[in-house]
Amino acid sequence: MNVILIGGGGREHALAWAIARSPRLGSLWTTHPQNPGLAALARAVDVPVSIKEIYRLQQFIKRERINFVVIGPEEPLCEGYADALTSDSVAVFGPTRDAARLEGDKAWAKEFMRSALIPTAEARVFRDARAAVEYLNTRDTPQVVKASGLARGKGVFVAANLEEALEAVDRVMVRREFGAAGDRVVIEERIKGPEVSVFALVDGRNIAVLDACQDHKRLGEGDTGPNTGGMGAYCPTPVIDAEIMDEVHRKVLVPTVDALRRDGIEYRGLLYAGLMLTPAGPKVLEFNVRFGDPECQCLLPRFRGDLLDTLFATATGRLDEADFDWDPRPSCCIVLASPGYPDEPRTGAVIEGLDEAAAMEGVSIFHAGTRSDASGRVVTAGGRVLSVVGIGDSLRDARARALAACDAIHFEGKQYRRDIGWQALGEQQAVPAR
Ligand code: AMP
Ligand code: GLY
Repeated sequence: MNVILIGGGGREHALAWAIARSPRLGSLWTTHPQNPGLAALARAVDVPVSIKEIYRLQQFIKRERINFVVIGPEEPLCEGYADALTSDSVAVFGPTRDAARLEGDKAWAKEFMRSALIPTAEARVFRDARAAVEYLNTRDTPQVVKASGLARGKGVFVAANLEEALEAVDRVMVRREFGAAGDRVVIEERIKGPEVSVFALVDGRNIAVLDACQDHKRLGEGDTGPNTGGMGAYCPTPVIDAEIMDEVHRKVLVPTVDALRRDGIEYRGLLYAGLMLTPAGPKVLEFNVRFGDPECQCLLPRFRGDLLDTLFATATGRLDEADFDWDPRPSCCIVLASPGYPDEPRTGAVIEGLDEAAAMEGVSIFHAGTRSDASGRVVTAGGRVLSVVGIGDSLRDARARALAACDAIHFEGKQYRRDIGWQALGEQQAVPAR
């Protein structure tokens, strides 16, 4: 099978690493050869990749006899790459544009959840900043303000008080820091509880739930500081037990897939439910239409089976034939980020110690924001630079391995958290010693 993998971050490096192990793989192509991790595993797609000139990619697919396209990130899914590339001879892993609105249009997703009776936080949608401000002024509980469109995880403001909520509306709707993604805002009641990410492969009809992960979105240890794309994750998580998982399956995943089908939308790909486990039961904070990043990086080292086969079976409505399970050992992913991340990451620093870290037992390293400079050195090129994953006999062991690898890697101003998994380890936010 000849495969194109679209996307260029740590999640895609992990996907490429797992796909490359499949005996069924012919050639693997990447749209992001500037990522040295991807360049080492895949050949470079040599045509411009954009939705406006999608015919170029379609021609490339014909020329190179591509059978399968795997789409990693949300942007191409929301732009309609799956619709444009699926054909009689080409399968695509990833939902269509209509289905991708679950992630790309939070206002629509809220309406959808309400009509399908899926448990979620109470929310209102506004097109007009003045109306949003008036509404906030009538609320006496903390609110969360979200840009409706895609904002790379940065368009959500968990406001501690009215001033912060008003400031968020100003940034999103008046200063338009997220462009058209801020045409509408969702204002939502703030709910409380542990957060967990549930991933399911969906082939239109069948649902296969993967092991649950917990992501750490805040920049700082003890879950403090600004929200980021994710500073680390571990898997499996004891935060969600079999009973709650079953409830999520019945009350969230099944009704979502069924309601989409009733609307004429066959969901094919990965469905990600970001949940908060409240005293009133699990509630959906957000849907995403792709693997989480960095959750994917801690999931895949535990995956036992043929990932290429599994993704292809999902894309072609044969998920019931897929055969895979999980390494029982826990994994822990720690993100190394650039100084200034998430607001203004400073890049261009030389990275040292990569080979030494990668050679450590039970460690996998995935490139996210890196590139090779003119003299072949790997340098930082983005906010989240590397995903460092440890796998071990216990979560503590997995984290210790990841931390040892993080300590062996050097670049100026590197930021990372040493407390990934603190809730599972019962650390109650006590930050482990440096
Ligand atoms: P989202 O991208 O919608 O998942 O939001 C990003 C983060 O903001 C989530 O992971 C939560 O930590 C937080 N968040 C979002 N919505 C709420 C809510 N209704 N109540 C409390 N926290 C929230
Ligand atoms: N790690 C959160 C996300 O991928 O959205």
